[in-house]
Amino acid sequence: MTILVTGGAGFIGANFVLDWLAQSSEPVINLDKLTYAGNLETLASLQGDVRHVFVQGDIGDGVQVSGLLEKHQPRAVINFAAESHVDRSIHSPGDFIQTNIVGTFGLLESVRAYWGGLAPEAKAAFRLLHVSTDEVYGSLGSGDAAFSETHRYEPNSPYSASKAASDHLVRAYHHTYGLPVLTTNCSNNYGPYHFPEKLIPLMIVNALAGKPLPVYGDGMQVRDWLYVKDHCSAIRQVLQAGRLGEVYNVGGWNEKPNIEIVKTVCALLDELRPKADGSFYSTQISYVKDRPGHDRRYAIDASKIERELGWRPAETFESGIRKTVQWYLANPDWMANVQSGAYRDWVLTQYVAT
Ligand code: NAD
Ligand code: TYD
Repeated sequence: MTILVTGGAGFIGANFVLDWLAQSSEPVINLDKLTYAGNLETLASLQGDVRHVFVQGDIGDGVQVSGLLEKHQPRAVINFAAESHVDRSIHSPGDFIQTNIVGTFGLLESVRAYWGGLAPEAKAAFRLLHVSTDEVYGSLGSGDAAFSETHRYEPNSPYSASKAASDHLVRAYHHTYGLPVLTTNCSNNYGPYHFPEKLIPLMIVNALAGKPLPVYGDGMQVRDWLYVKDHCSAIRQVLQAGRLGEVYNVGGWNEKPNIEIVKTVCALLDELRPKADGSFYSTQISYVKDRPGHDRRYAIDASKIERELGWRPAETFESGIRKTVQWYLANPDWMANVQSGAYRDWVLTQYVAT
């Protein structure tokens, strides 16, 4: 048996592949376009491991994806591939429409054709798991109940709107064609191998470089934070036991305002890598102009996945953020290569795309 993962060189996809192969002998076909967010250096420990087959390509390329499906006959496809950064979606929405909507449509078409041709037993066992975000539900007021799976879709950024469209397409392929799909909507992830354009890795990298720590607006926007390995375990659980056509919200029960996150990172760095001049990292905090259309609060009600599938996060925010800061401090080369752009060379030097 085999699984096909898309976007497996990105932050969550790569963590998923590493975790999967740490606990299973089942091979992974990893299809990734290697945009700026794809980093094969993250998967360096899998070099020479025959259970990991990396293929550079686009989820929307029907010829390539159909060829891969026919060749490797996966029992499941897990779709992580996406453009994922809200700020980039504000500046260049076209890439988000292309990959998150048109690309997902192409993937669905390829998977539908492959699944339709499977023998009855394989057809019944097959799953397409689509990885999505809590941002599709829009923004909450401070007293509102957390997002449940039936919360109305009210996306506010080009990123969340494009993810919402992809969720609708996945849903429609289940209802119209019977495609055996599962969807997860997860809150903000953090942890190892996170590209330093997102809040937590950016704060760590800038703090260590003595640069300003840019906090948008008043810093009181609230997100729910989940350690990436907990997201990976939730996906494995949904893949194994999720009910067909169902949506599962995944979250960490960790609502925090951004400024608290930034101050926590600063305090951990003060403890683990104190500054030579004795000053505190929090002195680098700099309030900057707010993001346009900035969602005020996200909160996830993750009780369905707990009730139905018995999943709960293993990490608290305190344990997860400490592990994360420690990981960045222990992996300066990974961080330096991401910042210098040297990670882009990995595809040329370390892997041969098939
Ligand atoms: P990421 O930006 O780090 O990685 C995305 C990966 O997809 C990259 O490796 C990129 O090269 C690849 N990719 C982009 N376009 C592609 C295409 N057309 N074909 C094939 N590969 C392509 O993103 P991430 O943070 O790892 O997020 C993964 C998924 O999880 C996304 O679908 C995202 O919407 C969702 N999600 C992310 C978070 C979060 O906090 N990061 C939270 C909830 C859900
Ligand atoms: P981000 O990591 O971009 O995730 P998302 O926008 O998908 O939630 O941002 C998390 C929060 O941190 C969000 O409210 C925006 C804020 N933020 C800053 O205040 N400063 C920054 O430099 C960045 C990147 C984000």
